[in-house]
Amino acid sequence: MKNAKKIYLIYPQKKGTIAPEIYGHFTEHIGGVMYDGIWVGKNSPIPNIKGFRKDIIEKLRAIKAPVIRWPGGCYAEVYDWRDGIGEDRPTRINWWTRDDGRYEPNEVGTHEFMDFCEAVGAEAYFAANLTGVTPLHVRNWMDYCLSPRGTTTLAKEREANGHAEPFNIPYWGVGNENWGGGGNMTPEYYAMEFRRFSTIMEYAFPKTELYACGSNSDNYDWTDGLMRMTKNSERHMNGFAMHYYCGSSGDVTAFTGEEWTEQLKKAAYMENIVLRNWHIICGHAMENHAKLVIDEWGCWHPEGSGPSKGKNLFEQQSTMRDAMVSALTLNIFNNHCDKIRMANAAQLVNNLHTLFLAHGEHCITTPTYHVFDMYKEHQGAEAIETAVTANSDFASSITVSASVKDGKTLLTVGNLSCTEDAEISLESLGTTLPQRANATLLYNEDMHAHNTFENPDNVAPKNMEIDISKPFVLPKTAIISVSF
Ligand code: AHR
Repeated sequence: MKNAKKIYLIYPQKKGTIAPEIYGHFTEHIGGVMYDGIWVGKNSPIPNIKGFRKDIIEKLRAIKAPVIRWPGGCYAEVYDWRDGIGEDRPTRINWWTRDDGRYEPNEVGTHEFMDFCEAVGAEAYFAANLTGVTPLHVRNWMDYCLSPRGTTTLAKEREANGHAEPFNIPYWGVGNENWGGGGNMTPEYYAMEFRRFSTIMEYAFPKTELYACGSNSDNYDWTDGLMRMTKNSERHMNGFAMHYYCGSSGDVTAFTGEEWTEQLKKAAYMENIVLRNWHIICGHAMENHAKLVIDEWGCWHPEGSGPSKGKNLFEQQSTMRDAMVSALTLNIFNNHCDKIRMANAAQLVNNLHTLFLAHGEHCITTPTYHVFDMYKEHQGAEAIETAVTANSDFASSITVSASVKDGKTLLTVGNLSCTEDAEISLESLGTTLPQRANATLLYNEDMHAHNTFENPDNVAPKNMEIDISKPFVLPKTAIISVSF
């Protein structure tokens, strides 16, 4: 076969532990993510757990969703936590009201979102507002959420609102996109704000991890400026929360072969961004304080292709190409797990790069959901080095990562070519491979294939046993996970 690839699994070269949080998610109060997305209301005829779609909860449990970020995104910068507790909740202008005319009813607030996390079995990552409030206002939110039962007035208010014990919220963002919607700041100005907020947040709750707003895409001036201005401070930083969206190429569901490759090249650029940011961080000796938290990533296609046909802001369809972007991105994260603390696909449902599309009684998984399922055992595993022969021509290359947990290897491979099948053979260094392996294949003959409410399993994974002592074929555009 023309496109033969040998994958070397180099067991003695360990790359570090893959933080489970790299497989994290993101739910913002935007468009159809919250209302009609995860939240249907406690009195809904749609099966729900405390108001949240049961179907989504069960499917998130199945993929071991480790952490969920909330309440934004841009929305975080206009959120007042007091609006989302107690009985009488105000309706407010959402950050996104100007775009879609929707107002924020605050039906989902701190308690409801924590119900969702508890039902999923995920930890919570709260994005705190830095632009419009004081550090004391944020510390009060932390006090309300985290103070032990019966201690402070705010802890007692939490108890009166139905949750006696503190919530489990280990991760706190200090602002969101403060180079843009979050105050349009310079890195120097933001650094001073970060120092002001984080000092008070950390002093009251030293066990929480505080993440500074990182760069957008390849804006390394932000990284350099922020590191320069914080390295001589008290260093209350535990992560650098950067965003990279790989945009779009051609039509969401009717792209050409060239556009397939172009989109994947843009996704592969994530590796450059990870490396350049990391080098700048290390250059300022901040590597123990600013591990990468890539808390928004994914494709950003023109909206209107999802089932709501444009009603839900940023909602888009998700094809096999989006699944391949996920496979490639998660392999990059695995391969750089020594630098990455967390990552959150943006966003969970009815939005950019989603795992679910939902409306009323309909709720389906996208091809990207299946990738998270196929990759889930990488969470907490030890990544090992891999090498691939004849892999320099991007359009016919494969993406690979491998990890070991409890003596079991998980190898995940995507064939980035949309024209050529790949013939894969495995060779290991440092251990002997067995003959039989369990594999899951995500493939559809049509690279544009996607799932709809009418045809929810058009793209679905197939389980099989394969003989890894011999070469096996990975069809063009296909993704496989192999465990042995
Ligand atoms: O995910 C949609 C938006 O993209 C988020 O609110 C914002 O942080 C980013 O610009």
